[in-house]
Amino acid sequence: MSSIPAPVRTAADLRHPRPIVYAHWLTVMALLLVFALIIGRDCLDEDRLRASVLQWHRLAGLLVGALTLLRLLLRSRFKLADTLDQASAWQRRLAGAMHGLVYLLLLSLPPLGFLLSNARGHVVSLGSIHLPRLLATDLDLAETLEAVHGNVAWLLAAVIALHLLAVAWHQWVRRDQVLSAMLPGWRRA
Ligand code: HEM
Ligand code: HEM
Repeated sequence: MSSIPAPVRTAADLRHPRPIVYAHWLTVMALLLVFALIIGRDCLDEDRLRASVLQWHRLAGLLVGALTLLRLLLRSRFKLADTLDQASAWQRRLAGAMHGLVYLLLLSLPPLGFLLSNARGHVVSLGSIHLPRLLATDLDLAETLEAVHGNVAWLLAAVIALHLLAVAWHQWVRRDQVLSAMLPGWRRA
């Protein structure tokens, strides 16, 4: 009995749906902006400039939160390409757990930053629209929230560093299609 050969898969087959790809790279850009603004702020002396850079940090942070919600919606609508079909069960579980942790951290940071701002006595606004205050001014609580927000943000940075190591391992050790499947159209083979 002749067996039917498995179909040969090309790079074109293994692509994540475009909305997922674009939302991934938009998040990367927004997150870089969030970190660049808060780190860059430390180099500034003038109070008004520091306040305005912090305001941009808040806006970029809220954008990351909105993009994360959009990504979760997209993940429920579109199926990711199975780039890990050669991987063992524990590798798939590890990848799933890491991505889950990234989502959890990305979802928790904007509310923490929002509450921190309120506890410091600041109203968060989108241009001229003032968002509702969820906490009264409480400087002790603000200090705690600042520590939590900062630690969670640096934990996110560490998890992303691991994410990048994993991507590098797929690209240069396994030489599989994990990275190419996540690239936007014009970068694909
Ligand atoms: C994914 C989103 C966010 C990330 C990754 C992030 C990251 C950070 C980091 C790394 C710091 C510095 C912590 C330190 O000093 O060690 C910080 C501080 C802060 N963030 Fe965020 N943040 C995000 C969203 C937000 C949002 C949405 C708000 C407000 C609506 C906000 C408000 C603040 C405030 C008030 C500070 C304290 C700044 C200061 O030292 O005066 N953040 N954030
Ligand atoms: C800097 C912030 C980043 C965040 C927050 C992030 C987050 C994520 C998340 C949550 C996933 C799971 C798939 C999804 O839900 O869309 C993912 C997948 C992926 N990311 Fe990132 N990522 C970041 C940066 C990068 C960078 C810089 C690269 C490339 C150098 C990259 C390459 C990939 C690849 C190739 C996948 C697919 C993994 C797979 O097929 O299992 N990511 N990323």
